[in-house]
Formats: sequence, structure tokens, C-alpha cells
Amino acid sequence: MIEYCIRFRNSITHFLYTRILKQYFFLFDPEHIHESMIRLGKFLGSFSLGRGVTCIFFSYAHSFLEQDVCGIHFKNPIGLAAGFDKNAELTSILPSMGFGFAEVGSVTGEPCEGNPKPRLWRLKKSKSLLVYYGLKNDGCEVIAGRLKNKKCTIPIGISIAKTNCAATVETETGIADYKKAYETFVRENIGDYYTINISCPNAYGGEPFTDAEKLEGLLAAIDGVQNSKPIFLKISPDLSREHLDALIAVVDRHHIAGFICTNLTKKRDNKKILDTSVPDVGGMSGLVVRDLSDEMISYLYKKTRGRYVIIGCGGVFTAEDAYRKIRNGASLVQMITGMIFEGPQVISAINQGLVRLMKKDGFHRISDAVGANYR
Ligand SMILES: Cc1cc2nc3c(=O)[nH]c(=O)nc-3n(C[C@H](O)[C@H](O)[C@H](O)COP(=O)(O)O)c2cc1C
Repeated sequence: MIEYCIRFRNSITHFLYTRILKQYFFLFDPEHIHESMIRLGKFLGSFSLGRGVTCIFFSYAHSFLEQDVCGIHFKNPIGLAAGFDKNAELTSILPSMGFGFAEVGSVTGEPCEGNPKPRLWRLKKSKSLLVYYGLKNDGCEVIAGRLKNKKCTIPIGISIAKTNCAATVETETGIADYKKAYETFVRENIGDYYTINISCPNAYGGEPFTDAEKLEGLLAAIDGVQNSKPIFLKISPDLSREHLDALIAVVDRHHIAGFICTNLTKKRDNKKILDTSVPDVGGMSGLVVRDLSDEMISYLYKKTRGRYVIIGCGGVFTAEDAYRKIRNGASLVQMITGMIFEGPQVISAINQGLVRLMKKDGFHRISDAVGANYR
């Protein structure tokens, strides 16, 4: 009965979001709407009635969805990907929205204004966002201050990147910038896991740490900081298999728990791009990156024989999308674009759908389904 009521609640919310709210939001500049949603989320998270009402509309729980990954307990495997809550302002409301975890940032060593506007576009036909923010954020010190002593009911990941400016282009200064941000959070014991984001497609100087030799230097510096929490490496969907093999060989020598597959894609020859005018700058999310992400999860899982935890990210709109990533080898899944196109109830709908799909396959725990396609 309760499952039926939740399905009904989600259908109504989906209808209202896609037929009314989205039509209105999509009339305005996407960055303006993003900022308005951050303000609304911050407000709702600031008092218990706001959190309670949000919970009534969006929550869902089931024992099948619970799991421990790297010693961290997750109530469900669906997380918010880095880039939506750049300045860690939503950590009070995200659990009420049904997320099992959330990644804040990417946070950089210094505060960063990001690239000049416009820097966010909707590719409506492709169900994708074109992102050229350029790591806009308040910087590690302010964000660590915001999170310090804050209790959160879901695990929080801290995504760390290099400040988007000319001063961090040299390898040494780039490493120092990553290390500064990472150390700031580790020192204050903030966050449940860390992500080293080497795949931002929109920063000054490109993605230098996708070069194996430079990555070796970066991870050696990260190893030098005493930390017992898991670290993930977020990678680009545009890497060739040879390139990925070279990065895995580097990662094998360091304290990395797993990979986030994947960030945005820059490639413009993707057949999933259905919109005719796509600006030259930026990286694409959503359905444009979905298959690339799925393929990379499969490849990594098979190549490393499951010895790394994989967080699947890119183009999750439905329970089937999330389940495919899990069966391909992901233990956890992150999303942003699906929530923007389908509405915030999609998190609960995906979780409920995952339980249905697991039951169909005879699985009682997420961990039973992880990598099932290759066992
Ligand atoms: C508006 C926006 C901003 C983003 N900013 C970041 C970021 O700062 N750091 C990061 O690692 N990924 C960032 N991403 C990439 C997402 O974390 C994710 O990898 C990508 O959007 C694919 O997931 P999706 O299709 O569910 O959106 C951003 C994505 C979007 C849509």
C-alpha cells in the first residue's frame, strides 16, 4: 500500500514539475534558475518544518538499498553529483530530498569567479546541459568554515579541483593548489570521502593531470597528507582506453579507493547531440554522456576486476539507467541533469524502481547487483 502511495505521489509531482514548473523555469537563464534553487534549498533546509515538508514530498527508504562502501553507510545509492551544490549550502536539505549521499564542490585552493557569462546552456532536445562554469566556488577556506561542526545525516563527499587561473597552470603550482584544498578539509576532519577531480573540461590550461606522469606527482602529494578516509578520482568520458590504462597503472601505486565515471564530455561529434546550435565552449552532461559513462564503468570494472569502487555518473534519468550502471560495476550512482529535466521526485522514483528491478533479478542487496553483468 505504502509503495503504491509513493508511486502515486511521484507521478503527481512529476506531472506538475514537467508540465508547469519546468515550462516556467526553462523560460529563464539556466544559471539564474540554478541560483534561485540554491536559495530555495538553503531556506528550506534552515528550519525543521521546511525539511519535514520536503521529506513528505520526496523521501523513500527501503532496506534493499542500504549498503556499506569503504566503511561508510549509505541509506541508498543515489547521490548528488559535484557541481550543483558548489559552495556546500544545501547539506541540510539534500537528505530530505531523498539523496543517499552528496558531493559538494568542486572546491579549489583559492576562491574562483569562474568563466565569463553565459556559462550554462540547456540542450533541450538532447536532454543535456552544456556547462562552462569554470569551477566557480568560494574557495576551500570559506567552504570548510561553512561545513565545520555541521552534522549531516547523509555521507558528504568533497570534490577538489585546481583553481581556474593562470597561476596554477605549472605542474608544481597546480599540485600545491589541490593539496591546499585537500589538506584544509582533512585537517578539520570535514567530509566522509574526497574526490580528486582531474577532468573539469572548462578550466584555464585544460586537464593537465590526465597526463600519467603529472598524475603521479599529484597523487604522491596527496598520499603525503595523513588521511584515513577514501579518495576517488573523477575521470573524463573522453579518455581513450589506452589512456585510461595508463591512469589505472598510476592509481595502482597510490591510496585511491575508486573512480567516478564520469565527468562531462567535450566531444562535439557525439550522435546523441540532437540540438543544432551548440556553443564551442564547455562540456555536456545528461543523455549526451550516458553511454560513454556506461561503457567506461564496464571497462574499468572488468579491467580492474572489481578491486576499485566505482561511482557511476552521467545521464541517469530513470531507475533503469541507475541499475544498468550498477550491473556494469558501479556501487553508487550520482546525478544532476536527470533531476533538472524530470524533477526532484526522480530521486525517490529511481530508488523505488531500483528495488523493483532488484526483486525481479532476485537480489536483496545493492552489493549483489554490482557488476552482475560480468559475473
Ligand atoms: C551545472 C553543472 C556543474 C558541474 N560542475 C562540476 C564540478 O564543479 N565538478 C565536477 O566534478 N563535476 C561537475 N559537473 C559534472 C557533474 O558532476 C557530472 O559528472 C555530469 O553532469 C554528468 O552527470 P549528469 O548527466 O547526471 O548531470 C557539473 C555538471 C553540471 C550539470
